[in-house]
Amino acid sequence: MKIITDKQELQNITKNTIQTIGFIPTMGALHEGHISLIKKARGENELVIVSIFVNPTQFLAGEDFDKYPKRDIADKKICELAGVDILFMPNIDMMYEKDEVTIKAPNIRGFVLDGFKRPGHFDGVLQIVLKLFNLVRPTNAYFGRKDAQQVILIKQMVENLFLPINVVDCPLIRDNNGLALSSRNAYLSVTEKEEALKISRSLQNATKLIVAGNLKIDEIKKAMMETLKGIDVEYIEIVSRELLIIEQIELKNTIILVVVKIGATRLIDNIWI
Ligand code: PAF
Repeated sequence: MKIITDKQELQNITKNTIQTIGFIPTMGALHEGHISLIKKARGENELVIVSIFVNPTQFLAGEDFDKYPKRDIADKKICELAGVDILFMPNIDMMYEKDEVTIKAPNIRGFVLDGFKRPGHFDGVLQIVLKLFNLVRPTNAYFGRKDAQQVILIKQMVENLFLPINVVDCPLIRDNNGLALSSRNAYLSVTEKEEALKISRSLQNATKLIVAGNLKIDEIKKAMMETLKGIDVEYIEIVSRELLIIEQIELKNTIILVVVKIGATRLIDNIWI
């Protein structure tokens, strides 16, 4: 595996190859969720590129940019073992100028849910993903469904800006207890981890109700709130896969999203129905 920190060096390779490129952008602290994306990319592309870059523009003031987990040595090992060809690890100066052309998330889908709670977050995500896409020139780019709104907005960006890239959304990966894998789980104490299991349980309960034929959004949200009793729930939303309001659950066209705070840690989870 080649480790590259210089964007020019990366571009020299990606500009001049005729190989198909599978790309997994990450912020590091890699876990099984990332590994599943790498493995999928490995099976579908000739060249697999992973980036690790903790992107400052997607963090709001007061968020965890400064303490975001950094595990460079372990991450390099994980990438090597998973069959990555190139690991791109730029620094901030390599990726950003002081005064920049910026990109703005779309008004409707960019400013609901997390876009409403974290204004500017998706502008930063799209800005860095576009930059990375331009450097890597991927054939296929892989994102987890855990960040549902993120992958939906990236797909929209690719469509709106006519980028010749196939964006692949991949299943959310959970640990044995059901907790959705996230680099931010590293912040949780043992008791907080136990508490966090209520999140996936609430989604399981929602699924059970739906399987039993209950498509009523209010009733499903109420049942989820019951399961989440004692936790600081930021929001539970049930929307279409276009992130639009729906009257009732639409099979194969619904996402149930839940966001909570456990201690100082903000955790997101969802299920695609
Ligand atoms: O999902 C993430 O880890 C980040 O938002 C991404 C896509 C790497 C952009 O910084």
